[in-house]
Amino acid sequence: GAPFVAYRGTELFIDGCAASELAARFGTPLYVYSRRAMLAALAPYQRALAGREHLICYAMKASSSLAVLQTFAQAGCGFDIVSGGELDRVLAAGGDPGKVVFSGLGKTRAEMRRALEIGVRCFNVESEAELDVLSEVALSLGRVAPVSLRVNPDVDAKTHPYISTGLKGNKFGIAHDRAVAAYRRAAQLPGLKVVGIDCHIGSQITEIAPYLDAADRVLDLVEAIESSGLRIHHLDLGGGLGIQYTDERPPAADALIGALLARLDARGHGARTLVFEPGRSLVGNAGVLLSEVLYLKPGTHKNFCVVDAAMNDLMRPALYEATMSIVPCRLRDGVPVVYDVVGPVCESGDWLGRDRALALQPGDAVAVLSAGAYGMSMASNYNSRPRAAEVMVDGDVATLIREREPVAELFRGEHLLPAD
Ligand code: LLP
Repeated sequence: GAPFVAYRGTELFIDGCAASELAARFGTPLYVYSRRAMLAALAPYQRALAGREHLICYAMKASSSLAVLQTFAQAGCGFDIVSGGELDRVLAAGGDPGKVVFSGLGKTRAEMRRALEIGVRCFNVESEAELDVLSEVALSLGRVAPVSLRVNPDVDAKTHPYISTGLKGNKFGIAHDRAVAAYRRAAQLPGLKVVGIDCHIGSQITEIAPYLDAADRVLDLVEAIESSGLRIHHLDLGGGLGIQYTDERPPAADALIGALLARLDARGHGARTLVFEPGRSLVGNAGVLLSEVLYLKPGTHKNFCVVDAAMNDLMRPALYEATMSIVPCRLRDGVPVVYDVVGPVCESGDWLGRDRALALQPGDAVAVLSAGAYGMSMASNYNSRPRAAEVMVDGDVATLIREREPVAELFRGEHLLPAD
């Protein structure tokens, strides 16, 4: 659990702000983030990497509102981006494009062009075909694109199949046994300059061992590539460190980095520049989703607690059957009843939690905990539901960082057919 989200007496607090007061003041559904919790999550990464050439690139897909990006930019972070839209967000938040790594297996020419003009630090290239296109685009602009090849180390990160990315059957990265040839090709293309190597094996990883396996596989490649005369400057070991949602026990970031550094040192690679791309572990525990109980609906098979947040606000339970804690914002007396906590969307998959014992009344606010990662950033407008508002808390100061989406925004840009 995160100490920045905890009860004081019967009131749930996010840092210095009472959750039920935030719900009343800003309305629900509402995402609330603790700025201090984010910085506290970053600190062990920074500590473990102090004294080494390194760059922590926040994987902004986890939570990409401008104030979140601003928080990490001010803390010295770069960003791992996967689209031109994310690049524009980095710029709007005051981030340094020179600290941006551009990941993703489907970059368009237009996205490449824009990133080259802005001057990102590195393109993480995911296929040989992409190498050719990137070189061509760079040449057309009279530039040279800095590249790293994302290699697929074929290790099992032992996570949910939808968020495991480092296995042979995944669409990501360049196969381990093609990597040396791909580097040779990259070195020959006139629009490219090889600067690094990278891998990312999955998300919500709760063990250190798969990282060490991946690092070993990547170092094997580095040695093979460099023996052919090329120089690999930086090593990007991706993101993926898990967080505690319920009973997971992921390693601390400094323990993970420490173990990786020990492995690199032991193999004589300790002097390389290191890049990491953490997303969830920087923001997940720092955020909650607040929602109001609309109706209690007892039944013979199941009791339902209908809340005003739904799968469009928080997709993880519906999409991955993810278990996330749900707690009352204000504890009340009374015998807990076992509910499925569900949203108003017209799908049986629209649930936020199953079989939760809760003492609640309509009008109460509840909090889905550890919702700071892949919550708002995956929200949709399904059922024409406007997206939630977002608040950043720092001590006892709460700042609205994103307004609740006005319904009119949902059909702005739509056109009726001409009258005949
Ligand atoms: N780098 C790359 C290339 C990635 O694809 C990802 C995440 C990250 C870094 C950051 O991984 P993290 O540290 O956040 O685990 N929506 C899913 C998670 C999808 C992760 C996608 N890639 C969920 O809600 O569990």
